Amino acid sequence: MIRIAVENLEPGMVLAASIPHTKHPGRALLAAGYVLDPKTIAKLPEYGVKGVWINHPGFDFLDAQVASGVPESRTRLYHDIKRNFTALANKTAGAFDLQFYKELISRLIEELVKNKDHAVWAERILEEPEELFSHSANVAYLVMILGMSLRNYISHERKYVDRRLAQDLTNLGIGAMLHDIGKIKLPAELRRSHVLDHHEDEEAYRSHAAQGYQLLRGRLEATASGIILHHHQRYDGNGFPEPTRPHAGRHPEPLRGDRIHVFARIVAVANVLDGMMAICDRKGLPKVAALAALQSAELRGMFDPVVFAAAVRSIPLFPVGTCVTLSDGREAVVIDLNAKRPCQPVVQILKPGAQVQDPSGEEINLAEPEAPSITHENRRPVDKYLYKPPDVITRHIAESYQDEADQATTACDDLLEAGAPSGGSPAAQPEA
Ligand SMILES: [Fe+2]
Repeated sequence: MIRIAVENLEPGMVLAASIPHTKHPGRALLAAGYVLDPKTIAKLPEYGVKGVWINHPGFDFLDAQVASGVPESRTRLYHDIKRNFTALANKTAGAFDLQFYKELISRLIEELVKNKDHAVWAERILEEPEELFSHSANVAYLVMILGMSLRNYISHERKYVDRRLAQDLTNLGIGAMLHDIGKIKLPAELRRSHVLDHHEDEEAYRSHAAQGYQLLRGRLEATASGIILHHHQRYDGNGFPEPTRPHAGRHPEPLRGDRIHVFARIVAVANVLDGMMAICDRKGLPKVAALAALQSAELRGMFDPVVFAAAVRSIPLFPVGTCVTLSDGREAVVIDLNAKRPCQPVVQILKPGAQVQDPSGEEINLAEPEAPSITHENRRPVDKYLYKPPDVITRHIAESYQDEADQATTACDDLLEAGAPSGGSPAAQPEA
């Protein structure tokens, strides 16, 4: 199967995977095997469908590499979050059901474990007009992928907690789902805003972290409610909320580096990544534009570099199955990723008329010298956004392939050597 953008679909193409119904969770909009016709293709954008998996001879081997059922579980998550946030907004915090969120997260973990080899971030789901809910679902989903790939780093950062407990991702997932719950207290126009948007009403926007924390304080484990309060706290010490209570006549230092709980550091990365992708979506820019924008040293300074490297690896710029155009004019399909050089995956040439002819096209590793480069993704120009991750990120990505036992320690040592901003002593690490 290959992934085709809705605008490039042609009548006669056959769905290789069902399309989840965006308005009715658990139902399929169209089932696998459906033969597309012009009327159906024209209607797909109305249901928020951006791309579909299509049968294609010569690319059956990709079927095993693609977790095509994952979007369905994410759509379910979106609807569950929407239902519960709405209940909270309409009633009171008394409507909050922690057990419900625990069950959502354990279902999500089960889903991701089942698809652990393929669980990557393909695309955002469902945007307007319910941006708050889709953002919460997207962030929760991405955070759980990150949490699973960072289990050892998490237990290293929570060194004063029993290892088994330290690696329990339930509170990470609950905090991620609820990180923006404070926005239900904001005016409708601010609910859609992300931190990277320009805010006319900056102070009101910033209040959502503290408002969300107050709303659910005492109803969640401290590690989960800490995420709500600190998901805008930057690794370099910027961000909000600012410390306000003077202690012994002195204002406390802002939280920075490893003084911010590792769960909040993970959610901070996922939050900004999804926010940047939402902004690019609105402007009609490809996903690679969002990732490219986050490569500047200034923006990277916002994040824990180990977490950021894991996020870059979890969001393939050109996921397996993506149709691309090369600089020599040939059409190709991505068949393997390159974590260190995400803009240079391995592709297989799509022969003209391959639906009926010999499908076996040439395989090219775009990272090889003299290899062509990608110019378009699904016929949309992307060449001006292609980038090479900075060395510090590449090094952390490389480290993530090392023996798991070494991974967290090495990453931390390297960070200190690189002079990355770091917080106070480990004893200062907030851990409730
Ligand atoms: Fe937020």
